[in-house]
Amino acid sequence: MKEKFGKVLFSRGDISRRVQEIASDINRFYAGEPLVVLCVLKGAFMFFADLIKHVTVLPEIDFVRIASYGNSVSAGKAISFTKDIELSLQDKHVLIVEDIVDTGHSMQFLFGQMQARGAKSMRLCALIDKQERRETDVKVDLSGFKLADGFIVGYGLDYAEKYRELPEIRLLEFIH
Ligand code: IMP
Ligand code: MG
Repeated sequence: MKEKFGKVLFSRGDISRRVQEIASDINRFYAGEPLVVLCVLKGAFMFFADLIKHVTVLPEIDFVRIASYGNSVSAGKAISFTKDIELSLQDKHVLIVEDIVDTGHSMQFLFGQMQARGAKSMRLCALIDKQERRETDVKVDLSGFKLADGFIVGYGLDYAEKYRELPEIRLLEFIH
């Protein structure tokens, strides 16, 4: 089975408007507070880079990368860091910036790690919230767009490491 990218679901204009709205919320929530903004690699890299330019509360920034092994639909899949956080989180607010929250298993793992490191509060910002597919009680506090179904690529999101460079978000089509 081959694939190709299909129609634009969220354009550059749609994305940049939402990015600025989310940044305003962040600036309001965290004014005067110690904040670490954490980018989850690789998928969130483009969203993070655009978002952080509008964040005016002098955050520290860091990057993590998470890998999951095993069947993605089984609750027992193993999740671990392939790149851990480097900053201290003790008594700081943490805002996680992720590409897509689907089942929520990866974010559940990350929340546990952040809590163990003494974060003062934790919030989750995700470009795409696939709420209907959640298997955990993970909630997205700040979401760009909600998506009920479909596989999407572009603006950082990949299919087998392809299409991350597209400047907009497109549906992926499979050709039989
Ligand atoms: P989960 O919430 O632990 O199930 O995993 C979410 C991760 O699955 C995201 O960070 C993406 O890497 C990946 N993912 C889920 N849906 C899509 C999609 O439509 N396009 C690209 N990646 C996706
Ligand atoms: Mg991901």
